[in-house]
Amino acid sequence: MISINPTNVYPFLSDQLIRQQSARVNTAHTILSTGSGPGNDFIGWLNPAEVAPQSLIDDIVATAERLHDHADKMVVVGIGGSYLGTRAVVDALSPNPDAIAYAGQNVSAAYHANLLRQLDTQDYVVNVVSKSGTTTEPAVAFRVILDHLAAKYPNGVADRVVATTDKSRGALRQLATLNGYKTFPIEDAIGGRYSVLSPVGLLPIAFAGVDIHELVRGASDMYAKCTQGDITSNPILWYVATRNLLMQKGINIEVLASFEPRLHFLLEWWKQLFGESEGKNGIGLFPASVEYTTDLHSMGQYMQDGRRIVMETFLRIESGEPTLLVPDGNPIDELGYLVGRELTAVNDAAWKATATAHANGGVPNLTLNIPKLDAYHLGGLIYFFERACGISGYLMGVNPFDQPGVEDYKRGMFSLLGKPGASHSNENHPEASHIQFG
Ligand code: PA5
Repeated sequence: MISINPTNVYPFLSDQLIRQQSARVNTAHTILSTGSGPGNDFIGWLNPAEVAPQSLIDDIVATAERLHDHADKMVVVGIGGSYLGTRAVVDALSPNPDAIAYAGQNVSAAYHANLLRQLDTQDYVVNVVSKSGTTTEPAVAFRVILDHLAAKYPNGVADRVVATTDKSRGALRQLATLNGYKTFPIEDAIGGRYSVLSPVGLLPIAFAGVDIHELVRGASDMYAKCTQGDITSNPILWYVATRNLLMQKGINIEVLASFEPRLHFLLEWWKQLFGESEGKNGIGLFPASVEYTTDLHSMGQYMQDGRRIVMETFLRIESGEPTLLVPDGNPIDELGYLVGRELTAVNDAAWKATATAHANGGVPNLTLNIPKLDAYHLGGLIYFFERACGISGYLMGVNPFDQPGVEDYKRGMFSLLGKPGASHSNENHPEASHIQFG
């Protein structure tokens, strides 16, 4: 179970003030759990065991094993919520994160040309993931990958492709039916950024060798513990209340900070979750991330001493990291005091010192302690953030499950590229004026 260190919040918010939020936060929590708020047709992710029952997990594991008969490399084609959660878990936990390559998360020609060059010499299978089936980036990339796949395996394309998409609608569903691809469904009531613990994430995560049963069990246990209780017993409610109060006091940015590089894409996933859920109607905390200790040498100055509009949430892994000791060596580097100490202890000292220094510098911060970075606890952490995000959206008075702001650029892009039926004013696009210097 996740625990929270609140020490560096208290100089900025009293414990009493946080507890006084109990009624407000309970109301937001009830709106989520009873499905009485806006977006209530998108809360199908709430109970992880219902999203991924044993029969589905068995099907996913069997499919991953069958795909491994063809290849030990999978290309996941998807973007946003159809990709970030997968990458977060694979990079954090897989014994071989390179088992998965990614396509369609951008439309860079250089990126995809380089990927195809690698695939020329590797056997691979494909999992194309798109709920709508019409998102431009993965749709374009899937064409490119299919072209390559058909040239490489003229008689065996269908066996190498799995489509994860809407149960009945959309171009990808039609394509899968036409070509006989194995499919997994994305439920109507689960939006992209809340979908990692559904087939969207579970198939590639299983393919990459992560125990998806444990991942779902961790999420289910978090669900069981955090559906009830109040701000004093439910860490999700405490987190939601605290960041909301800080926003009211003028904080604009929440920085999620990790000391572990393999959490890089968990931070990216978290930014999408909170950014798309809260950032509307002119409000919401801007979600940002830093990776320490690396970024202490780039962003550390700003965090310590820049505009005081930032709060910080640290992720700390409590145990289970490899043992690596600082060896004895030449005294010239003056590291004698560290000889025989674990690198993990050095990293932990960096966390303590950073949290304290930043609080002293005017950055309220809290730490989420993860007992161990394994499938069970990562599943719990993912669910912790998803549920916190849903409650937080309602507390801010927004619909945490839509993303109307993502559509505007798409309309403009379709119009510029000449998509039939698309029309959109692009009068102010950047090439409308052009300053030539020199
Ligand atoms: O969270 C979301 O809804 C988005 O990030 C989508 O997942 C993303 O745009 C991809 O959409 P789709 O799965 O329909 O291709």
